[in-house]
Amino acid sequence: MRNFEKYVKDMSKCTNCGICSTIVLCPSPQKCIGCKACFLACPNEAIKPIVDDEPRDVIKIIVDGQEFEVPNYITVKRALELIGFRYSRYPEKGSFFSPCETGGCYACAMLIDGELKPSCHTPVKEGMIINTSTNSIPPLRIVEGFQPHPVGGVGTPYWLKRKGYYIEVACFSAGCNLRCPTCQNFHVTYNSALKPLTPSEAARILSWYRRQYGVDRMAISGGEPTLNRRWLIEFFRELKRRNPDKKARLHLDTNTTLLTPDYIDELIEAGVTDIGADLKALKLETFQLITGITDKTLAKKYLDTAWRAVKYIVDNYYPDKVFLGIGIPYNSAFYPTLDEIYEIGRRIATMDPNIQVVALDYRPEFRRMDIKRPSVEEMLRVKNVLEEAGLQTVIVQTYMGHIGPS
Ligand code: FES
Repeated sequence: MRNFEKYVKDMSKCTNCGICSTIVLCPSPQKCIGCKACFLACPNEAIKPIVDDEPRDVIKIIVDGQEFEVPNYITVKRALELIGFRYSRYPEKGSFFSPCETGGCYACAMLIDGELKPSCHTPVKEGMIINTSTNSIPPLRIVEGFQPHPVGGVGTPYWLKRKGYYIEVACFSAGCNLRCPTCQNFHVTYNSALKPLTPSEAARILSWYRRQYGVDRMAISGGEPTLNRRWLIEFFRELKRRNPDKKARLHLDTNTTLLTPDYIDELIEAGVTDIGADLKALKLETFQLITGITDKTLAKKYLDTAWRAVKYIVDNYYPDKVFLGIGIPYNSAFYPTLDEIYEIGRRIATMDPNIQVVALDYRPEFRRMDIKRPSVEEMLRVKNVLEEAGLQTVIVQTYMGHIGPS
C-alpha cells in the first residue's frame, strides 16, 4: 500500500495566530488531503506531517477524457502524479508547473468540474472531470492589497521619492516559489482564501487606483508575480491598454528566479518599464539559507536564472527601455561577514556601476523572529562595502528610513 501524509497541529507550538484558518483556506477540513498549505504557512512551525495509514476508498476520476482509479482524500495534483503525470517547481517541458504549492498562484490550475481550480489545493472526488488544458479560458490568480504607496520598491527610482506624496499604486500576488524563513509578506504569500481575479479584473482595479491617487506608476509585487506567466503577461497587456499615455510606468517587483530571457522579452513587449529584481545571494549556500529552498538542484536553477536574468536585462534593455533596480537582503544571520556582499557589488558593478542597488535590512519576520533587525550603522557599513565594490547608486533601507547615494 502507498504511503500518504497528513498534517497535524502540535498544540504546544501553536499560538492561535489564525494564519492556518484565515489566510489558508483548508480545502478539506473534514479530512486532511495532504496539500501542506497550512504546514508551509504556519509561522510557528506548529504543523507537521505524519503518515496517514487509514484505509481509504478508491474513486474514479476522468482526466482529459480517460477514466482512472485513484485513492480518495488526496489532491488532484497527487492523483495526477499517481497516474503518471509529472509536476515540477521550475518550468520543464512535459511537466505541469507547480511553484507555490499553496493554492495562490494558480500556475497549476486545471479545469476541474468546469471551474478553473489549483490542482495542488483541490481534493479529488468521485466522478470528477479534469481537463488539464486551460489555454482557452482566462487565467486566474489571487491578487490583493491594492493600495497607494509613498516609497515604492526596489525598482522605483530613488529620486522620485518625495516625503508625504504617493508615488505608486501597487497590488500583491499570492503564492511564492521560495520558502524564505524571513518572508516579509507572508500574509500575502500564503493566502489561498481570497477569490482569484482575472488579469483584466486586476488591471482594471489597479488602473482605478492610479486615477484615484494621481500617480503614474503601477506595480505588482508579492508573493512572487512571475509564477503564473500567462496571467502576468495578460495583466501587463491589459494595464498598458488601459493606460496608453507616455507617463504610465508598469513596474514588476520579482525575485527573478524564473525570468528566462524569453520571459523577459515577453514582459517588455507587454509593456513593463521598470523591474525591481531581488537577488538574494551570490553563493548557493547563502541563497538556500535565505530562501529556505532545501533542494540543492532546484536552488541552483533559481539562483543561476536570477543572475542571468539581471545580466540579460542590463545587456538588452537597461537603461533606455527599462529602469532596473536590484535588491539585496542583509542580516548578519545570513551574512556573517561582508565579503559576499562585496562580491555581489563587484558582479553588479561589472554589468553597470550605475544600477540602483537597494540593500534591504531583513527584520525579524515569519519563522525567524529570533534575528535582530540590523542597526543603521550596520546598514551604512553594507552601503560602504557596495560602494567600494564600484557601485554608484546604493540605497540602504533602515528602520529610520532610506539612506540614499553618497
Ligand atoms: S502551484 Fe498550485 S496554486 Fe501555485
